[in-house]
Amino acid sequence: MKGNELRQAYLKFFESKQHLILDSFSLIPENDPSLLLIGAGMAPLKPFFTGKLVPPRTRVTTCQKCIRTGDIENVGRTARHHTFFEMLGNFSFGDYFKKDAIHWAWEFLTEVIKLDKNRLYVTVYPDDQEAYDIWHKEVGMPEDHITRLEDNFWEIGEGPCGPDSEIFYDLGESRGCGEPDCAPGCDCDRYLEIWNLVFTQFNRTADGEYVPLEKKNIDTGAGLERLASVLQNKESNFETDLIFPIIEKAAEMAKVTYHTDANTDVSLKVIGDHARAITVLISDGVLPSNEGRGYVLRRILRRAVRHGRLLGIEGRFLTDLVDVVIDILGSGVPGLIEKHDFIKRVVANEEDRFNQTLAQGLDMLGALINELKEADATEVPGAEVFKLYDTYGFPW
Ligand code: ALA
Repeated sequence: MKGNELRQAYLKFFESKQHLILDSFSLIPENDPSLLLIGAGMAPLKPFFTGKLVPPRTRVTTCQKCIRTGDIENVGRTARHHTFFEMLGNFSFGDYFKKDAIHWAWEFLTEVIKLDKNRLYVTVYPDDQEAYDIWHKEVGMPEDHITRLEDNFWEIGEGPCGPDSEIFYDLGESRGCGEPDCAPGCDCDRYLEIWNLVFTQFNRTADGEYVPLEKKNIDTGAGLERLASVLQNKESNFETDLIFPIIEKAAEMAKVTYHTDANTDVSLKVIGDHARAITVLISDGVLPSNEGRGYVLRRILRRAVRHGRLLGIEGRFLTDLVDVVIDILGSGVPGLIEKHDFIKRVVANEEDRFNQTLAQGLDMLGALINELKEADATEVPGAEVFKLYDTYGFPW
């Protein structure tokens, strides 16, 4: 199943369970000063969970564009970390709760996309006997596929929160760390978390109290790229049809071959990831700048250019990758096709500017090293390192 078909299959499945399909919200949060960028499917829906706004329906499903930069150094080094990804989600605002959320997740995974039941594992919050019993007694999940995990609790500061239940797919021993305690929740690549079901049943107050909500909610999140990697039987998200054509194009421009050198692969994956993030951020109205969201965009773009240089690409190359990104995502992510030319112009300007800056920075570094050598110094002073990092975009 192609990535675009998977997105559609998920939304249609939940539509068949009376959910209203909403377009992805913008990456720029609306009326939420606590967030710089949207990083989860539930984030734009917070007012519906708290009751501040009335939802258009009590059951909603989305495929939400998300940006997370906390893990940026892992991007390209693991099979599953991204700055930009799409999160599939089904949400209940005071409507259905645990039982339906669990049964429908199971139905989608085993009947719609037909994953092997024997490879599925779940974790539940230690106190959540109700979720345990639904998985074990109703769904029929064997006890040795259920783990109670203390950190299965989802919250983002004040507001709606609750215990969660994560669903994992076992990619097999060959993908694991081999440690005797390797199990769902382990950091290695063996057990891939594919879906998180959050049972939002408390409201966390400013003083840290958990008050039971009168109406209980459901918030779920499944990574589209991760599910695609399982369905397409790929080693990582980067090899799925949602990302790989970008990597192929970058490899062609750099005249390198994917899967022949570990460092080359990291750079190609970083470029594949960042090209998507840049395209979608600009389509949502973020422009490169020295602060806030614009700075996030600028740093991601510069990071992509730098990896292009590492591969030996000279001159502008990201604009061509924008074409590939839009070719892949245009049919599933609203707004990209209409803004195609605009996105390319912004990327071209910023890339050209950065190439100049990079050239200036290299001149500066060369002169500095000569000066330091003459003075028999063996270290570049911190202030100069900072300038190269902050102003010229050099890696630390
Ligand atoms: N809000 C939950 C998450 O992002 C589903 O994992």
